[in-house]
Amino acid sequence: MALSRCDHAVAGTRSWSPAPREISLGDNDIHIWCASLDDCREQRWRLEAVLSDDERERASTFHFAEDRDRFIASRGILRELLARYLHQPAAAITFSKGRFGKPEIADRGRSSRVHFNASHSGTLAIYAVTSACPVGIDIERVRDISDFDAVALRHFAPLEFRLLLAAPPDRRREAFLGYWTRTEAFLKATGAGLGGERRAAPSSDWHLHTLWPAAGYVAAVAYTHDAAQLSLWTFTEEALCRSQS
Ligand SMILES: CC(C)(COP(=O)(O)OP(=O)(O)OC[C@H]1O[C@@H](n2cnc3c(N)ncnc32)[C@H](O)[C@@H]1OP(=O)(O)O)[C@@H](O)C(=O)NCCC(=O)NCCS
Repeated sequence: MALSRCDHAVAGTRSWSPAPREISLGDNDIHIWCASLDDCREQRWRLEAVLSDDERERASTFHFAEDRDRFIASRGILRELLARYLHQPAAAITFSKGRFGKPEIADRGRSSRVHFNASHSGTLAIYAVTSACPVGIDIERVRDISDFDAVALRHFAPLEFRLLLAAPPDRRREAFLGYWTRTEAFLKATGAGLGGERRAAPSSDWHLHTLWPAAGYVAAVAYTHDAAQLSLWTFTEEALCRSQS
């Protein structure tokens, strides 16, 4: 089985910057946004106002207010971001689900070329938007994980498992989460086999990049477009306000 483009050298990217005022999505662009969900508390009512009835219903099922508020922020920001690309109001965007449950933009007209994926962990959310190809993204807060060797044996490709075991003990947790996010990003890009016992590993058609959006977090993005240009942007309240104007 061929391995994906970045399986040997974990390509890391740490240069994040505020988004430019005007955003245009070129054919090769993959825009990656990272948002701090707890920074949006003052915008909560505004973000909640753009959610669908289903999303509000889901928000109401969270036991803890903190989790509910982060869900509202992550969905509200997703809508605000997509609104900038689709040139339609955030509240008007409708989602459908792909064959394996992957959220997509429902309108199959002009928006059918915009692919997106989202992930959240701890206080951060991360989003990928592109017209180049299907995309998957995953973020994990670095934390203690019990028995990760067994998890890795079950889910990782054999080479990744060997590389994980070869990592110095004090780096193994980060190495594990690096491979984990890359695998999740790939699975989320394809949607294929989610929830199965062992799933297809990425072939050489796939690019997998590790990202470090903030201290204490690891993320990864998966895509197939060879000429892709990644832009890494932090989502700020200012960006949110600009999207409203
Ligand atoms: C569906 C799945 C991908 C979500 O992942 P997660 O880590 O729980 O959550 P994340 O925050 O990364 O992603 C959630 C987002 O992914 C998107 N998503 C949901 N289902 C998806 C699917 N089938 N495909 C791609 N994206 C999906 C949604 O935007 C969702 O956002 P929401 O919570 O606001 O609805 C996950 O539950 C899953 O099945 N993963 C594979 C399981 C596995 O064995 N992984 C091994 C990796 S080594």
